[in-house]
Amino acid sequence: MKLVLIGAPAAGKGTQARKLIAKYGLAYISTGDMLREEVAKGSELGLKVKDIMSSGSLVSDDLIIAIVKERIKADDCKRGFILDGFPRTVVQAEKLDELIGSIDKAIYINCPDEVLLERITARETCPKCGASYNRISVPSKVPGICDVCGEHLTQRKDDTVEAGKARLATFHEQSEPLVAYYKKQGNLFEVDGMSGVENVTNAIFAELGD
Ligand code: AP5
Ligand code: MG
Repeated sequence: MKLVLIGAPAAGKGTQARKLIAKYGLAYISTGDMLREEVAKGSELGLKVKDIMSSGSLVSDDLIIAIVKERIKADDCKRGFILDGFPRTVVQAEKLDELIGSIDKAIYINCPDEVLLERITARETCPKCGASYNRISVPSKVPGICDVCGEHLTQRKDDTVEAGKARLATFHEQSEPLVAYYKKQGNLFEVDGMSGVENVTNAIFAELGD
């Protein structure tokens, strides 16, 4: 199964991807996580994308396509994969179709901007295992500590009000056209991202089946 997760910042792509990989045994490809790892390492690529990411803009299509092209060749992708945050432009979607034929389903998690901005600024992430929490809607059991691995939680550099607004604008301008793109292909499944983590998961599972 080859899945694509579409959604504005903080719509719940990463949260739902974790549930999907656990159920379907798919490889997880988050271009945002891959880029953040490069930034943390201070690699040449990381230095190139650091400021672009913290300003809420997109890195170039060519650069991100080259990264995904390599990643999907890995062995763990042979059983299928979930792409979180890629494609993010129609150019990227066309290139993906060229590389893999076509995807099985694009899952669009739809959520209004006001809620997303609140989620963005209240998000806490585990730097060790990647688990994501929210001080308002999905708090960790012990404040500031990861339930899964006990690490201290941190806030992403782009989870500020200013960068959050810029990321939302970027989504509407450059990524929202993907909804029409996949609808035209007959591969779109839209889910209400306001309905609580578990309800969103159940709606996706029902669509994908066992
Ligand atoms: P990326 O890391 O993909 O960030 P994003 O798209 O802004 O999305 P987020 O990770 O912020 O949100 P999410 O949807 O995963 O939500 P989450 O599950 O964490 O990209 C970062 C940057 O990298 C981009 O801005 C760009 O610069 C660059 N980049 C990446 N890919 C690129 C590409 N293809 N092309 C060009 N540039 C690229 O949930 C958010 C919060 O809400 C959490 O606190 C969570 O606990 C909570 N929550 C989740 N679901 C619910 C729910 N149903 N109800 C209540 N709370 C919920
Ligand atoms: Mg994410």
